This record gives sequence, C-alpha cells and structure tokens, in this order.
Amino acid sequence: MVAEQITEHGLVDDPHLRRGARGYPLLPGGYGRSTYYTGRPSPYAVRGEGYRVWDDRGREHIDANNNFTSLIHGNAHPEIVEAAVRALSAGASWGIPNLDEWELAEQLMTRLPSLDQVRFTNSGTEAVMAAIRIARGSTGRDRVLVTDGGYHGTSDVALVPGGPSYTRGVPRGVIDDVTPIPLNDVSALHAAVEAAPAAYAAIILDLLPNRAGLLHITDEFVHSARELASRHGIVLIIDEVISLRLGYHGISGEYGIEPDLLTTGKTIGGGFPVGAVAGRGELMAEVDPTKPNSLPHGGTFSGNPVSMAAGAAALRLYPESEVLRLNALGEIVRSSVSARIAGTGWTVRGQGSLIRAVPEGVNKVDDATQHRLWWESYERGLLGSPANLLSLSTPMDKAVAVDLADRLADAVIAVSDKQD
Ligand SMILES: Cc1ncc(COP(=O)(O)O)c(C=O)c1O
Repeated sequence: MVAEQITEHGLVDDPHLRRGARGYPLLPGGYGRSTYYTGRPSPYAVRGEGYRVWDDRGREHIDANNNFTSLIHGNAHPEIVEAAVRALSAGASWGIPNLDEWELAEQLMTRLPSLDQVRFTNSGTEAVMAAIRIARGSTGRDRVLVTDGGYHGTSDVALVPGGPSYTRGVPRGVIDDVTPIPLNDVSALHAAVEAAPAAYAAIILDLLPNRAGLLHITDEFVHSARELASRHGIVLIIDEVISLRLGYHGISGEYGIEPDLLTTGKTIGGGFPVGAVAGRGELMAEVDPTKPNSLPHGGTFSGNPVSMAAGAAALRLYPESEVLRLNALGEIVRSSVSARIAGTGWTVRGQGSLIRAVPEGVNKVDDATQHRLWWESYERGLLGSPANLLSLSTPMDKAVAVDLADRLADAVIAVSDKQD
C-alpha cells in the first residue's frame, strides 16, 4: 500500500500528479471528482473487460464499483461499444434531434407503463433538478419533502437531506424550502405534510438509500407517501437513478407504487453520461415547448446520440430474465457473506444486485471505517465504491458471485479484527 503524505498543496506520492506553475495539483486534492476519495492516493484504472478491471499498480480486480453502479453490463460490452462507436462515427452530437433519443425513450418507457413521457439529461443530478422544477412549476408551490439519508445528487436542494455537513454553500432560502423527515417514520411524514399541505410541491423518495447504509424503506412508508401526495395534490417523485436496475419496472414496480415523476440515470446510458425524468403526460407538458410559457429544459449534450445509442443497447441487453438472474446472484452474495461474517459485528444489506457490508446497527458509516474496508477489499482484488456499495454486472455468473462474496467476507473480517 502507498504511504500517505500530504503537503500544503496536496498529496505528493501519486506518480501521476501534475502541478501548475504555483505548485498546486491541477486537480484539487489530486482528484478529478471528490467521490473517488478513499483516504489515500488512489490507484488509476488502466483497462476494463467484462467484470474485471486492471489498475496501474498491476492488479486485477473484480469490478463491483462499475462506475458507481452504472455499468450494468460491466466494462466494454461489445454490443454497447458497437452502438456507441456507430453513433460517435456519425458525428457524436448535433443541434437538431436524433433518432437514438426515440430509441432510448421507447426502451425506457416500455418498462414504466404508468408513465407517458421522458426527457433526457446528462446526469441523475440534472434529472432530479428537472423533476423538482416540473413539480414546482405545475403546483405553483415551493416546498419539497425528503427523507434523511436520501441521496439525490449534488444540486442545492439535493444536498439538504445530507444534513449540515453537506449544506455549506447552500443558500438559506433553499434549505428553508426542503423538509427532511426521518426514514420510515410514517407519523413524521403525516405530521410534516398535514402541517402545511398546500406548501408542498413534491415528495421525493430514494427507495434504497445508500447514504443510509441501504436501509430498507417500508411498504407502509412508501404507500403513505403515495396516498398523502394524491390527497394533497403533491407530486410524488421516485428517484431511481440507482435502483432502476433492481426490477424490470424499477424498484417502484417492486413496491407496486406509481410515481408521478420518476428520475433515473446510470444504467440507462450504457456507461455514458445520462439522466432522465419520466412522468405522467399532464406533468411532462410543463416542458413541452409547443405550449405557451413552458418550463426551460436544455443541456448542450442532453439526448446526445452516443449516450442514447449506448443506453438503448444496455436496456435491450437487460430484459426481465437478466434482472432476475442478477438479483438472484445478489442473494447468493448476501447469504454467503452473512454466513461468513457472523460474529464480527458486521452485517450485509442490500437488495437484488446492490450489496453493502456495514457495521451492525449503523446506518451512516464513518469515513475512516469505509476507507478501511475499501482498502482491505482492494488488497483482495475487489473494487467497490468508496462507501463500499457493490453492484453486480451481467458478465458475472455464480462462480464470480461466490468469489466476490469470499473476497468481501475476508475484507470485512480483516476490518473487524483491526477494530478489536
Ligand atoms: C438516488 C440517486 N439520485 C441521484 C443521483 C445523482 O446522479 P449523478 O451522479 O448521475 O448526478 C444518484 C447518484 O448516485 C443517486 O444514487
């Protein structure tokens, strides 16, 4: 492992680090995005193929990070590469519509039969921003109800449920318009909405909140949110940026819930930048430019043919049979890890093809513990996200799932020994 050494201007033991004329690393902290951070200089990815990734330290890994769950078909799937190259060779992106937008729209909307229309964005963050704007525009109200630990990207509104450590730099007015309530607290949900039903534009739910340690959201909570939203004319937004992979009709389908708007991203771009807000026709009319006074929706690269073509290929390659197969592999991983880590004080949570080991009884895992588990997993050739969220990909089979589970269990056991 690389020893950590920090100077005034950042980490110095990263061989790739480049500095500007005034001594600063060109990337703050040495990272192109803060979400890479695992407590010490990171390895660099060199190549990926299927479920494997190789790094610049000469190591081969099972890739269960999958670029933060987005690579549902692993690395460089030939059909996705072919689709993306076909679009790229034809010109990459244009300022008039392209046919691949319709193709991805059709692939996606077939899975969301209670919704009518979709608009594409470049990220899940933008999709949630658009959904909230549509909710506010259509209701004429400002307030948004969220759950503690729900993650909805990095817009000002979305940072509020993360609590005070995330809201530095977010204007007071934005914070005041967001009401966070405890997860699964049905009484708090009723109390918040019924105190000012006409103030709420939207209730937004992340049904498998990674920031809360993949805590399960109860049916009662979800259905109460649906019922309250319908009763008070509030827009129910289900944020499926991660969770769409968990069911052919997304995690909403698994709960039997019909959102008014649904946001997604990640898997529907085949590994390229993407987001989407899908919704009922009456609401999506808010962004219909043929109507007077419609809400703005743009984005130079929204709906670009490379993301659209790769995404359509990714969805075609993920029929219900594959959803179920991956979810079953997730069960194999969870039960095998559970059996091996019994007595360590750790547990394994998740649903379907999303898996996470956390200390028992802990929802918000501290950074130091997350980083320890990340590096113990790394040493065993297993890549997760820095929060140790693991996702499966379709190139994996039962043997890979069992291998992955062994590596994860070994890493958890190593971390728990070090905690003694
Ligand atoms: C539920 C949820 N919403 C929104 C986002 C933001 O998506 P993006 O990172 O593409 O902006 C994420 C990202 O992990 C997410 O998990």
